[in-house]
This record gives sequence, structure tokens and C-alpha cells, in this order.
Amino acid sequence: MSTTNPPSTRDVMEQILSATSDLTGLVNPFAAPVGPAAIVIFGAAGDLTKRKLLPSLYNLAAANLLSDKIAIVGVARADMDRETYRAKLEEDMRQYATSGTVDPKVIEFLSKRTYYLSGNFENADTFARLSTLLATVEREQGTRGNVLYYLSTAPNYFSIIADQLAAIGLTRETDGAWRRLIVEKPFGTDLESARMLNQQLRRTLREDQIYRIDHYLGKETVQNIMVFRFGNGMFEPIWNRQYIDNVQITVAESLGVESRGGYYDGSGALRDMIPNHLLQLLTLVAMEPPTSFEAEAVREEKAKVLRAITPMTPEKVLSNAVRGQYDEGMCGGKPAPAYRAEEKVPRNSGTETYAALKLAVDNWRWADVPFYLRTGKRMAKRVSEIAIQFRRPPQLLFRNTPVEHLSRNVLLIRVQPDEGISLRFGAKIPGPTVRMGNVAMEFKYKDAFGSTVTTGYETLIYDCIKGDPTLYQRADMVEMGWAIVNPVQEVWRALPPRTFPNYDAGSWGPDEADEMLKRDGRTWRRIED
Ligand code: BG6
Repeated sequence: MSTTNPPSTRDVMEQILSATSDLTGLVNPFAAPVGPAAIVIFGAAGDLTKRKLLPSLYNLAAANLLSDKIAIVGVARADMDRETYRAKLEEDMRQYATSGTVDPKVIEFLSKRTYYLSGNFENADTFARLSTLLATVEREQGTRGNVLYYLSTAPNYFSIIADQLAAIGLTRETDGAWRRLIVEKPFGTDLESARMLNQQLRRTLREDQIYRIDHYLGKETVQNIMVFRFGNGMFEPIWNRQYIDNVQITVAESLGVESRGGYYDGSGALRDMIPNHLLQLLTLVAMEPPTSFEAEAVREEKAKVLRAITPMTPEKVLSNAVRGQYDEGMCGGKPAPAYRAEEKVPRNSGTETYAALKLAVDNWRWADVPFYLRTGKRMAKRVSEIAIQFRRPPQLLFRNTPVEHLSRNVLLIRVQPDEGISLRFGAKIPGPTVRMGNVAMEFKYKDAFGSTVTTGYETLIYDCIKGDPTLYQRADMVEMGWAIVNPVQEVWRALPPRTFPNYDAGSWGPDEADEMLKRDGRTWRRIED
């Protein structure tokens, strides 16, 4: 079995910060297998389970990060017996594994510990049968009463399932055992519904039993932002408004909505990506150093950033928020249909597939440094990155040279693909005259540490079993995320878009987004490589 997957966030970060050399050995020496625990997956026959959860459980098992007192209990409506579900799980693991070759011993390890329960989530009888099954699982697999419930279902079941579990006593923690609940996104559809969901969950669970997941926080590069900022001496002193001109966060996807048109049309790019993934990236870039890597210390610093983001007035929404919807075009050399021609999307849909915002973090570190966020489907390429753009130096020295315009230095954190960090700056082009060219210093994860393809869920599941909520969202953080986009949602709802579709599939989004930066004398970073 290979040993390549990441251990708990707090452990790794503390070890990295205390290490002075030879970081290449950092991943596994500190990681111990987690368990005993039963992992109950609601929505066990769904897409997320087969594409992400099962491959991540496979990766954890392959890296010896699951103890042998682990069990998987799938719960779904589909009528299957245990053997049929096991066969499906084995097949899904083979098909969606992130590693090239799949080790049959690992699959067998998990399959032997897998159970299935068919039932309706609204029916109390399902939970009575689950209770009986969990007792069997505990006896057979030694899971000691610890249970992680993973809600990988449609959001309307989140509070129903939590209530049902509580009603039959399945969330109660006795004899030192723990019971935790992972809630998938979307966590509400706006501020009000997120508040209501928080209230509903807290009727039956303590806050420390609720793990609100954002899979962006499971990505290696995202976790590295804190280590990069606070574990090195040279970046933090210039990480502020005195040196940084603006920050651009891009999460661009080249795919369209695929088969998710039904969900996506009711959501749109803003709600699907910004209150969660993009704001998480923003908080990691903007937060103050926490006093430790304890969950509360980290989450409190992140929450402070969200609190410092000035809510937009309706007038500001008109100038600081841009929406777009893709038309047909060419994506990756192939013709791509318009959004309105996608499966399960109304032909006159007014849903945005692109959103860009300009946000202000109004605190001592960031006042007057705009944070530009953009995300979209069917863009020119799939890339997620954070570009920290530094202020230009004074031009005086170069006044009489052909250098007309000094570029900004850029520190680029590439989240995916080609994970890494690159520093872009100017250098003299060799020759008798002073001419400047843009050059880069690159760090690539793949070159430094070898490549490990993970789903991003491994660390998150591992941390939850361990009881480390650092990478999960607190109730107030989710609500603040919604509060930030709330004014945009309201204005966009009140003013139906008149220019849709307004960008071609395979482009970098609508012209209005370029104009938003142009008004500030800036441009979006041109992403070529
Ligand atoms: C999900 C969104 O949360 O994140 C999807 O619902 C989006 O629409 C996905 O495609 C992007 O995740 P990743 O890990 O592929 O960047």
C-alpha cells in the first residue's frame, strides 16, 4: 500500500512549521490511522459518493490512514442488498479511483467492512433499522459506538435526517463515544435559509458535532496558503496594503453544467461558488496569523476577515458585481453549446454561469486593496488561482528608457491544475539598451514532492474522524458568507439580466467584467499558462 495521503491539518502544519529542512518527508511520519468509527453515508448511491467519497476512502485506506476498526454503512432509497452494494462500491472505487492502479487488497479491506441499508429518509422505520444495523456493525467491526454521519443528499433532507437521527437517539454520545455529522453544500440558498438550517441542526446537535464541509479547504495548495504565509519570514512583512495593490481570485472551469442543469439553473455561479469556495480562498489570503493551529484560533481569524468585508449597497452592486451567461462557442478546440441549450435548462434561462465581484476588506491590513473575485463555467481553461499583485515601483529611474510601463510584481498561488507558487517580476533583457522582460520563479508541487492525485476529501474525512474541525466552517462563517453575497442576490433578482447570453463559451467572460477593473485602472491577469 502506498503512503501518500495527508494527515490531520493541525498535525501537519505544526510539524511543517517546526521542520527546518528536508520537507520532502513531511507527509506520513506524523499520521496515524483514525478510528474506530462507522461512517454512515446518506445518499450512498449518489454521484458525490461514487466520484469523491469512495475514492477518498480508498486513498485513506491505501495510505494506512484508516484503522481496521472502520465500517462504511451506505444508506439510500435504492433497493439493494449488502452484496449488491458491496459489488457496486468495488466497481465505483475501481472506476473513480484517483490513482492509476487500484490495489485489490485495499478494496477488499473496505468491502469487508461495508454494509447497506435501503430506506426512505422521511420514514422513522429507516432510522429504527439503522439503529439495529449500527449495533451489529459495532459488534462485528469494533467501531465502539463512534459514528460519522455524512449527508451526501439533496439539501432538503439535511434537517430531516438530523431530526430523525436525534429522535431515535442516534446522535446521543454515551460512554465516551462520539457522533458527528458532515453537511455537504449548498448550506442554504441565501442568508435566511442558512440561518434556518443552522437553527434546525442545533435543535438536536451541539455546534462541535456539526461539520460543514467546503471541499476547497481539502485541497493541498489551499492548505498550504497558511503554511506559506506564516511559516516563511519573507512574505508576511509585505503582505499588506502598503505593498499589495490588489488581489485577484479566479476559479474558472472549462466544463459546462454537464448533467447538473436542473440543480444549477436554480443556483447560478454566484451561489454555487462565491459564498463558499471563493470566500474561503479570500479569508486564507487576508487573515491575520492565528495564535495556534487550534481549530478555534484559526476559524476566529477567518471569521474576522468575513466580518470586515463591507456589505455592498444596491448602488454598489451595479458597479461592483458582474454576471454573465455563456453562449455557444469553442471550448478546448470543440464546439460547445450555449447554456440555454444545455440539458434541463430552460430556453430563456436568466441564470448566471459567470460572476465577478469587487470586495473591500475594511481593516488595517487591507483598506483600499480591492479583492476581485471571478468564477465561471465554460471559460477558456480550467484554472483556480490567487494572484497577489504588488504596487508598481516609482518610474523615475526608467523615465528616459524605452520601458514605458513597469509591470506589477505578481505572486501567484496556483490552486489547480499544476499546483504551485510562482513569483513574476521584471528582469533586464540582455543587450546594450535597458529593456525589461517579465520572468518567473516557479515552485511546482509535482517537481518538489512528486504528484499525488487526491479528491480533496481525504483530509476532511480524516480530520472529522479525528475530531479536528479546523478546515470546516463554523455556523457564523457560513452565515457571513451569505450576508456578503445577499445584496448581490437581491439586486440581481430584482433586475432580470437583459444582455444574456453575454460571453462565448471558451472565452474569459463578459466584457463588463473587464470594464469593472478598467474603471479602477486595472486589468484581470491574463492567464495563458
Ligand atoms: C462545486 C460546484 O461545489 O465545486 C460545482 O457545485 C463546481 O459547480 C465544483 O464545478 C468545482 O470543484 P473543483 O474541485 O472541480 O474545482
